[in-house]
Order: sequence, then structure tokens, then C-alpha cells
Amino acid sequence: MSSQLHLNAFLMGVGHHEAAWRHPRTDARNVLRAGYFQELARIAERGKLDSVFFADLLSVGSRIERNTQTTFEPITLLSAMAVATEHIGLIATASTGYNEPYNLARSLASLDRISGGRAGWNIVTSVGADEAANFGYAELPDHAGRYRRAGEFVEVATALWDSWEPDAVVLDAATGIFADPDKVHTVDHVGERFTVRGPLNVPSSAQGRPLLVQAGSSESGKDFAGRWAEAVFTAQRSIPEGQDFYRDVKARAVAAGRDQDEVKILPGIVPFIAESEAAGRRLEREFTELISPEYALRQLSQMVGVDLTGYPLDAPLPPLPPLEKIQGNKSRYQLVKDLASRESLTIGDLIAELGGGRGHRTVAGTPEQIADDLQRWFEAGAADGFNVMPPYLPGGLTDFVDQVVPILQARGLFRTDYTETTLRGHYGLRPHIGRYARVVAGVGG
Ligand SMILES: Cc1cc2nc3c(=O)[nH]c(=O)nc-3n(C[C@H](O)[C@H](O)[C@H](O)COP(=O)(O)O)c2cc1C
Repeated sequence: MSSQLHLNAFLMGVGHHEAAWRHPRTDARNVLRAGYFQELARIAERGKLDSVFFADLLSVGSRIERNTQTTFEPITLLSAMAVATEHIGLIATASTGYNEPYNLARSLASLDRISGGRAGWNIVTSVGADEAANFGYAELPDHAGRYRRAGEFVEVATALWDSWEPDAVVLDAATGIFADPDKVHTVDHVGERFTVRGPLNVPSSAQGRPLLVQAGSSESGKDFAGRWAEAVFTAQRSIPEGQDFYRDVKARAVAAGRDQDEVKILPGIVPFIAESEAAGRRLEREFTELISPEYALRQLSQMVGVDLTGYPLDAPLPPLPPLEKIQGNKSRYQLVKDLASRESLTIGDLIAELGGGRGHRTVAGTPEQIADDLQRWFEAGAADGFNVMPPYLPGGLTDFVDQVVPILQARGLFRTDYTETTLRGHYGLRPHIGRYARVVAGVGG
């Protein structure tokens, strides 16, 4: 277990609550303003958070008329945020399904260089059929195949990031040498799906390569996390479930030959912060009342793999298909199914419960209560830190930074200032030493 928490701000439009943009605490026009996102990054940096993060989808799908969250491509947006900040990490979601490793390794290496070693990559396989339709696929590629492609994709991307040794750039104007060709390597990858010669055309950054982040919770997802992830985002609803997941992923990392501290587990939390618990709940209800049921039904239909259009809100969920039939997000399907049966929720209850963070845990209360909750999870070994998902922005982030963070700091649970300069450093990891540098170091003793 880490000695202090790691905190990531998961930013989305004007907040995670699906009705956030209709609430007077937000200004929906912000979703298309780069300056607003730069300001969010500065607020998170004021709180000394480890990183900010953007999710991404490669489609608009059924979301268009009700959803404000579909805006900028994350690497581009984070590049704008990089120049507005100095310390905070910048994590971009990018798909292994619909990119080529060379292009994506290059974009992420560019963000890593632009930010001085603060880039991270949330590796996703993409679970939407509407995304597949934008890339020439008649249907969503199957779950196992997507993870196989992701594995080979990350092999290639990481090889490309290693292709420049740290001291390969010479920049000697007197001799006219830009780079030492002996320290820049081809990768010569020939695999099932990709053939890539390399080297990359961007030299490595101060942290060696971007931080690798992942969020799959199925068996293949957890194996993948054990092999590759340095931080894992996850939706866990209770401390026992969180502890199981935590132990499971750490054990898979050890089985893959890694140290268990090399992977940090960050469950999501949606905090409604107010002056009392009752006021927090009231605030949450204000948002719930703004949910559009037919839009929420469409979202829920996607999660459970059944078209719920026309079902009454006071009815329970109909029988759901078995897990094996779900080709999209298996873990979210399981979470919603368990939640509905454990708490005997109707479709309407589920819509309210999922509105805040699509299944992530919502907590309403005072700053002390939120801090107590985070501390309990951390000390129980259910989390190394948290993926903080403000239900509305910027207020939900400002309140977290100005009211919850100082309590965590006073308790010695969170840094009071940055002690490292790179994203890997913030997460307690050393700079990545590429495979060629390692060989040279080994030969030289
Ligand atoms: C916090 C969090 C953020 C995620 N962000 C994205 C995203 O931006 N884009 C995406 O396609 N999938 C995203 N996912 C989905 C995961 O990448 C993964 O596909 C999903 O958890 C299903 O994996 P599984 O089938 O292994 O359970 C996210 C999941 C979580 C928990």
C-alpha cells in the first residue's frame, strides 16, 4: 500500500452527472471552450492532485440531443492544458481498436514532451458498436479479439517509446550532429496485426514514456492490467468488493513479474459536497430531477444489453442476457445487474442511482465525511487513491480541492506540495528505463 493517497480528477464536460449541464451551477457553453478546461487543470493543480484525465468515445451515437459530453479529442485538449500548468499529470484516453500504434505512440510522446514528462495513456479497446461503425466494421469486434489487439498494440507502442535512448539527442551545432544513430533503434515488430519497423520520430521524455493506465475489469481486462497498467480506474461499490479487486489485480501484476506497488488502484467516487449530509442529498436530488428518462433509458439499455424503451420506470429490470453474450463493457453490465438485484431496484431507481457517475459510487456529505470515506477505503486496502468524478464543474472540483484536500493533507494522507516533476513521479514510480538503455547499463556494469 502507498503511504499517501493518489488523486486523479476525472473531468467530463460540465460534470459527471448526466443532467449537470441543465443545473444552474454549471454553464453548458463551457464544454466547447478550451480556456475553461485550462482553468479546470489549474484548479486541480492548486489541490496538488496527481493528474487530470479525459475519457473518450469515437462516436456520437444515440447521445446527440441530450448529451454535452462529446467534445474535444483528449490528446489535443490536454496539450492546451499542458501549457497552462506546470506540475499536474495529463491522462488521455485513446483506443487500441481504431488507431495504429505508430500514430498514437507519436501523439502521446508529443504530449509527453510538450508537458515535460506529464503524459499518461488510458488504454481502451472501445466497446461501442457505433464506434466500430465509424471504422469500417459491421459490428463490434469480439471481446477476446479486442484484448489480443490491445496487447500487441501496447507491445509495439512501448517498443517505439524505447527506441530513443535517453541521451540519443546530441544537438551539437558545432559538429552538426542532432542525434547519435547508435542510440536510436528500429523495433522491427512483425506480429499478428501490426508490422512496424520504427524508430519513433519523437525522442523520449523526462519520464521515459507515458504512464500506462487501464480500466477493464473482466478476466482479460484484469490480466491486461496486471501485465501493463501502472494505474487502474475502476468502479467498485463497497469496501469488500474493492478489496477483492485490489488484491486480484495486484496478484496478477506479481504473477506477471512486477512489483505490486507498480500498479495503483483508483476506484471512482462522485462526491456531492455540502455543509451537511442532508444538504448533500438534497443537492444530489436536484440533479436527479433534471434527468431525462428517455435518454437515461437508452444509456441503461446499452449497459445491460436489452432495449428498455417503453418499459415503465416503476418496473424491475426484465431478465438480462448472460454475461458471455455481452460483447461491450462486461464489468459495467455485471455491476448494474448486481446492483439491481441486491437492492431490488426498479428501472427508475437505477436511472437515479446511475445518473451521478454511470455506476461509480456516489457519496453525499460534508468535506469531513467525504475525507473519512476516502480514508476508510484507503486504510482497508481497497484503494491506493481515487478517481474523483465531480458531478458538476467547476464547482464540484473547486469544493473538493478547497475543502476535502486540506483535510486529507492535515491527516498526512495527501501531499501538501509536489515533490516530483513527472506524472510517473507523482504516482511513486521511477522514470521508465527503456530496453536498450537497460542493455547498455547492464553491459557497462
Ligand atoms: C473510470 C473508467 C473510465 C473509462 N473510460 C473509458 C473511455 O474513455 N473510453 C472507452 O472506450 N472505455 C472506457 N472505459 C471502459 C474500459 O476501458 C473497459 O472497456 C470497460 O471497463 C470494459 O472492460 P471489460 O470488458 O474488461 O470489463 C472506462 C472504464 C472506467 C471504469
